[in-house]
Amino acid sequence: MKRLMVTGGAGFIGANFVHYWMQAHPEDFVLVVDVLTYAGNLANLEPVQQNPNFQFVQADICDTATMEQLLREHRLDTLVHLAAESHVDRSILGPDAFIETNIIGTHSLLKATRQVWLTEGLCAQHRFHHVSTDEVYGTLEPSDPAFTEETAYAPNSPYAASKAASDHLVRAYHHTYGLQVTTSNCSNNYGPYHFPEKLIPLIITNILADRPLLFMVMAVRCGIGCMWKTMPVVSRRYCYRAR
Ligand SMILES: NC(=O)c1ccc[n+]([C@@H]2O[C@H](COP(=O)([O-])OP(=O)(O)OC[C@H]3O[C@@H](n4cnc5c(N)ncnc54)[C@H](O)[C@@H]3O)[C@@H](O)[C@H]2O)c1
Repeated sequence: MKRLMVTGGAGFIGANFVHYWMQAHPEDFVLVVDVLTYAGNLANLEPVQQNPNFQFVQADICDTATMEQLLREHRLDTLVHLAAESHVDRSILGPDAFIETNIIGTHSLLKATRQVWLTEGLCAQHRFHHVSTDEVYGTLEPSDPAFTEETAYAPNSPYAASKAASDHLVRAYHHTYGLQVTTSNCSNNYGPYHFPEKLIPLIITNILADRPLLFMVMAVRCGIGCMWKTMPVVSRRYCYRAR
């Protein structure tokens, strides 16, 4: 039986993870920690609110003392870290929040888990799972081979750079202090509970609301030569990725 802290559990992937986990492992205890930014929505967790093995705490991952207290109080042995500022376009307009949450916040969690699990020795069998992104590896040209774990880091946006920095901190806490860590670098996801600023839900909600869909046409380098591609204007990320 495991006792999990899930950070960012009121967000898109976090909520999906909580629903999946609680169904697959009904005996486990799940504590969601989420500060509820614009991207967090408690309604995403409505289906599990009444489950006695579920609890929600509104808190900021940068608050190390509170993170330590929650780890001790609930005897948590597993941390699934999803909390982040996650929208690339927002990181271009205002990178500070990304540095604060994605780098300082991840370091705060590493400090808290090191203190409680290792220094106080409360949990020899533990796991810190860090959810990162493929964007730490940079941009693929159409003919490039897929990224692998061996690909060199080459982040191209403040968002990607902040996630890359957090990956390095997680790795360093393993090699320096022996914290048991894993990191996953998934690519773009879509599905239920997706915040409608992202490409697919934005287009779907605009269609449902009968709003005009704005598109831009741009040149996309594609093997040999050039082709024109039509893209929604909503996401600069897709524009520079397809450069
Ligand atoms: N969505 C994707 O396609 C995708 C792809 C690759 C990686 N990721 C990574 O997966 C994770 C989850 O992504 P998502 O799309 O669900 O993000 P999201 O923006 O939907 O949710 C993020 C959640 O974190 C919470 N949060 C933000 N700052 C916080 C803080 N300081 N303290 C506590 N909670 C805070 C927000 O309230 C929100 O509920 C992120 O780490 C992201 O980098 C996402």
